[in-house]
Amino acid sequence: MSSMNNNLKDSEHLHISWTITKLLSFFFLLISISYLFYSLGFVTNSYDCEQKKPYLFPTTTHLSDTPAPISPPKDTLKKPFEKTNISHIVFGIGASSMLWNHRKEYIKLWWRPNETRGNVWLDQEVKIEGGDEHLVLPTLRISGDTSRFKYKHPRGNRSGIRISRIVSETVRLGMENVRWFVMGDDDTFFVTENLVKVLQKYDHNQFYYIGAPSESHMQNLFFSYNMAFGGGGFAISYPLAVALERMQDRCIQRYPALYGSDDRIHACMSEIGVPLTKEVGFHQFDVYGNVFGLLAAHPIAPLVSLHHLDHIQPIFPNTSHIEALERLKEPMKVDSYGLMQQSICYDKKRAWTISVSWGYAVQIFRGILFARDMEVPARTFLNWFRRPEYTSYPFNTRPFNRNVCQKPFVFYLTQTTFDEVLHETLTEYTRNQPNPECPWKMADPTQIKSIKVHKKPDPHMWDKSPRRNCCKVQQITEEGTMVIHVRECGEYEVIEK
Ligand SMILES: *[C@@H]1O[C@H](CO)[C@@H](O)[C@H](O)[C@H]1NC(C)=O
Ligand SMILES: *[C@@H]1O[C@H](CO)[C@@H](O)[C@H](O)[C@H]1NC(C)=O
Ligand SMILES: *[C@@H]1O[C@H](CO)[C@@H](O)[C@H](O)[C@H]1NC(C)=O
Ligand SMILES: *[C@@H]1O[C@H](CO)[C@@H](O)[C@H](O)[C@H]1NC(C)=O
Repeated sequence: MSSMNNNLKDSEHLHISWTITKLLSFFFLLISISYLFYSLGFVTNSYDCEQKKPYLFPTTTHLSDTPAPISPPKDTLKKPFEKTNISHIVFGIGASSMLWNHRKEYIKLWWRPNETRGNVWLDQEVKIEGGDEHLVLPTLRISGDTSRFKYKHPRGNRSGIRISRIVSETVRLGMENVRWFVMGDDDTFFVTENLVKVLQKYDHNQFYYIGAPSESHMQNLFFSYNMAFGGGGFAISYPLAVALERMQDRCIQRYPALYGSDDRIHACMSEIGVPLTKEVGFHQFDVYGNVFGLLAAHPIAPLVSLHHLDHIQPIFPNTSHIEALERLKEPMKVDSYGLMQQSICYDKKRAWTISVSWGYAVQIFRGILFARDMEVPARTFLNWFRRPEYTSYPFNTRPFNRNVCQKPFVFYLTQTTFDEVLHETLTEYTRNQPNPECPWKMADPTQIKSIKVHKKPDPHMWDKSPRRNCCKVQQITEEGTMVIHVRECGEYEVIEK
């Protein structure tokens, strides 16, 4: 019974709602028609309006002339986008008091007083020289006590724990306006402008762990291909460093058998779940001897760091390590983005191949060699076990020279100037090692005494897809000076004879 009663009531209810629906529909139809007429007129008006004032994209300079048809997203209004600059980076340099007097000279080479921010973290107090030395170095700090942590690697040094905690200790300083924490050793040389350029590619509000593995295949197998090697330096974005700080001390206790500091960071990154973002301009330099081959065929990426400055030979001949880097700083000042960038061209008349490593060295080879060979580093260096092997590297290498005639004529940078009028760099390179006699019947590069390279800096070089620069031999003077121009390649330009 109760169910039938309900049914009756329901049908009554249905009838009433149907009448209301009809009334409402009619009402809406009226409104819709009048709105249609109104909006037709409105559309015509706004169309006229747009004909008179075309919409300009906000990138044009005449912003004040333009209407603002779309308001930018709220967060953009609050925090206008600002490119990362040097002030957003805080460096954490791991150092030892024992080597301080020697190593501080490397830091002074790249540290920019009142521009770079950061600290050197030492195991104990060091004597500070009188005068203004403290003005040209980062703030010196003593790392926190790590004796409570377990360390069980049979050959390593427990200072690895202290150095890996530099990230957390730096976060705890609570510095303002930090986007990136960049770690390095006391024997790491940073090219700061290029470091900034690389970090500009990444959103510092997200989790990023950026660096490079080693040049040694064995080191990468022992540690990890996915580990940023600490000496080459690595960057951790602000929020990731905060996440690391919250867990690092617990994390370190889980890995007492690891060797050093960077493998401990890597282990914690694995726990957080953040992979290594590889940037090939960070150079750990786990090699010995002469790194000429690696630098003269640098990957097409900004040069960010050089490490193991005491292990390798000075990068320029007949100089000290410090003098060599002082010399590299000259081209770095006038065109940091172009530093070490290779370009390859031919002197077709003489059948020579020229390879320019801008700001560092120029090589002349007898014969026409392909770009695919020239871009491969020559094995001028020894592997991590001081052997001249070719299977030791996670990249291709080639022999330095097979016979006396194929040995390149190497010219090293001696002079750097910047022409303010032409807005152009002029770098000069000279040869200071004699080449052996060669029986080939062809033009002899021995006549070339020096090389002058003209190049305009390209501030947008790394904002574009990577591409090697092009070079062109302009002339050879009677005094034996070869003049070369280096510039961006034409769209369809290729390196061919
Ligand atoms: C770096 O960017 C900030 C804005 O985030 C700006 O206030 C500061 O002046 C810039 N510093 C340099 C050295 O360009
Ligand atoms: C850095 O700034 C301080 C004070 O602002 C000044 O005394 C000092 O000379 C500056 N140092 C350099 C190397 O410019
Ligand atoms: C570890 O390195 C420090 C210098 O940082 C040194 O004083 C100490 O003797 C080393 N310890 C071992 C066990 O090699
Ligand atoms: C090496 O440098 C020293 C002093 O800096 C100089 O006297 C000498 O001539 C140089 N040797 C060569 C081969 O350039």
